[in-house]
This record gives sequence, structure tokens and C-alpha cells, in this order.
Amino acid sequence: MSTTLSVSLGARSYPIFIGAGLLADPGCYRPYIPGRQVTIVTNETVAPLYLAAVQSALEGYRVETVILPDGEVYKTQAVLERIYDALLGARFSRDSTLIALGGGVIGDMAGFAAACYQRGVAFIQVPTTLLAQVDSSVGGKTGINHPLGKNMIGAFHQPRAVIADTATLDTLPGRELSAGLAEVIKYGLIRDAAFFDWLDTNLTALRECDPAALAEAIRRSCENKAEVVAADEHEAGERALLNLGHTFGHAIETGAGYGNWLHGEAVGAGMCMAADLSARLGWLSAADLQRTRDLIERAGLPIAAPPELSAERLLELMAVDKKVLDGRLRLVLLRGIGSALVTDQFDPAHLRATLGG
Ligand code: NAD
Ligand code: GLY
Repeated sequence: MSTTLSVSLGARSYPIFIGAGLLADPGCYRPYIPGRQVTIVTNETVAPLYLAAVQSALEGYRVETVILPDGEVYKTQAVLERIYDALLGARFSRDSTLIALGGGVIGDMAGFAAACYQRGVAFIQVPTTLLAQVDSSVGGKTGINHPLGKNMIGAFHQPRAVIADTATLDTLPGRELSAGLAEVIKYGLIRDAAFFDWLDTNLTALRECDPAALAEAIRRSCENKAEVVAADEHEAGERALLNLGHTFGHAIETGAGYGNWLHGEAVGAGMCMAADLSARLGWLSAADLQRTRDLIERAGLPIAAPPELSAERLLELMAVDKKVLDGRLRLVLLRGIGSALVTDQFDPAHLRATLGG
């Protein structure tokens, strides 16, 4: 059984297909490929598992494949060049299409290449991690890391379609599944208290990879994400709430060295830190802080930054954040479970206390 959602962006609206076995379904791709030239961008882990299925859906097209090394550490300008090399080497034109087959790293990189190649070509997201299926493949944020800051070079470029084949999660390592759950829990915390309750009840089933529970979590996450993106595509307001825990998390990821902490793990700890600060400010009750920590911990995620990152170092890293405006750090904080805000109105002493300083 499959579900189709839509991201409503006028003429640039696109479908999100969710279901088992969609990877090899030509009907999910063909209407969204403008020309005859297709480049599949994937990595050396995902290619042996799923490349053949995607290729089988693309009979009749001229298909090139770019297989990148696997890992956050390769989400760089140098590795991105390999995609341009392949596109130019094949003489692919402006009506060619990129297909991102993999997790968020591949989706962000292939999407950014599509945004830049000949000033923008079509692309399709085929996410194969839970994190990518619930978050990164939807909404058009694309980009790469810089040694001084995560996701600092990028562009908004919406895909033509998102094809989330839930059967690909069968091969996903448990640690990666937990990382994806961080972004799932995020939707409950920022705007969907009923979903948070559902997650509380169904977390064990999710960690055991129960297919019905996973499909429901992906559907509800994508519904939330699609609503936010449709309301605020370029993050002028509400979309910033999707960064709950990310300012803390990006500081942890950069400070620990890209790839040492998974993005979702850093977001899990970051959301606990945002909840802690919210509680110190008197906005979140002690009971809701405890519920937040418990759910994140039960998801198999860390609930604090690594001890070797001092408050000083974290503050320094947090200053390189896309939400910094006029030199003032703005954070996504919680007013309760299901309600979030972006604010720079907090006492720095409370922030220091949260950071352990
Ligand atoms: P990832 O892309 O590194 O994938 C995690 C690991 O799983 C990799 O080793 C990958 O090769 C492997 N893998 C992928 N699919 C698999 C499968 N089906 N079976 C077995 N192994 C599989 O990490 P991720 O968690 O998917 O994404 C994290 C990235 O996404 C970060 O770079 C983060 O910044 C970005 N992100 C972007 C957005 C956005 O809106 N664009 C949102 C959230 C996160
Ligand atoms: N993952 C944050 C966003 O898409 O806005």
C-alpha cells in the first residue's frame, strides 16, 4: 500500500510517494523527468543495494551514474565537483535530470549540483534513510559543508518528486534508524503534540522496524514538513522552527568532527539542550522536559553534548549559525510539547548553564 502527499508550491508543487517497493516503479519517475538524459547520484554503500532497481525504472533514457564516497566528511566542494565532471563529460544539457539515491548527504549534494548545473536542472529525491524520508528530501534545502560551518554553502532548489521506498529501511543500520527518529520526534515537539503522544506509544515498534509504524511515522512527518514548507518556503518565519536543536546540534557535529556524531544524534542531544534552556526560562514544565528527554533517550539517541566540548567552544561554534542576525544568536525554544518559537530573548547565563559552563 502506498500514500501520496503533496508539497503545495503553486506551479512548483510536487508529490511525495511513500510505500514499499516504489524504487523500481517507472510511474513514480517518468512524469517528472523533462528530457531524455538522467544522472543518478548515489554512494558506494547504497549503489550495490538499490542502484539496479532505480536503473530498471529508467529504461529508454540515457542514464549516467555517479558513485560518491560514503559519509558526511565527503559533503564538500571537492567531492561535489565530481558530479559536474560527470554531467559535463556526458555533455548533458539543461533539460537533463539528476536523481539523488541515498541518505541526506547524497540528497543535499545532488540537489545542490542540480541547483547550480547550467543555473538549475530538474532533480528527483529518492531517499533511502529514515532521516532523508522524513526530512531532508522534502523542502528543497540543498548544500554542502564548509570546514568552518555545517551546511553553510547551499541553495533552495525544490525537487520534482520525492520517492520514499519504505522497504529500503530494511537494510538501514539501527544507529541510522535512531538518527532518523530524532527528526521525527522534532515534528511532535515543535507543532504536533498528538504525534508526540503517538510516538510515545509506538516508539518500541518503530525501533523494531515495524513496517506499519514506520510508514505512519513517515507519513505524519512528511505531512508536517509539507505544511511548513508550503507556508514558508524560504524560511522567513515558521520554517525556522524545523531547526529545533540544530544550532546546538550543528555545533556538536562541527566540534566533534564531521561524521563522528551522526546528524540525527547531534539533533537529539541538541533538542534536549533546547528543552533544558526552555525549562530554565520557565517556559517548559519539568514534567515535559522529562518526557522529552525520555523519548529521545528511548529512541537510542544521546541527550547531552560530548563532555570534551566546553561551553566556551560550543558558544564559539554556535555563533556560526544561519539564524544569527545582527550578531545576535537566535534559538528555537519550546513553550510546551507541540509549541515552539524562535527567540533571542534569553539570559546568556541560562544558556551557559545549559551548556554546562
Ligand atoms: P547519510 O546520508 O550519511 O546516510 C547515513 C548512512 O546510511 C550512510 O552511510 C549511507 O550510505 C547509509 N545508507 C543510506 N541508505 C541506506 C540503506 N537503505 N541501507 C543501508 N545503508 C544506507 O545520513 P542521513 O542521516 O540520511 O542524512 C544526514 C544529512 O542530511 C546531513 O548532512 C544533514 O545536514 C542533512 N540534512 C538535510 C536536511 C535538509 O533539509 N536538506 C534536513 C536534515 C538533514
Ligand atoms: N531541515 C530543516 C528544513 O528543511 O527547513
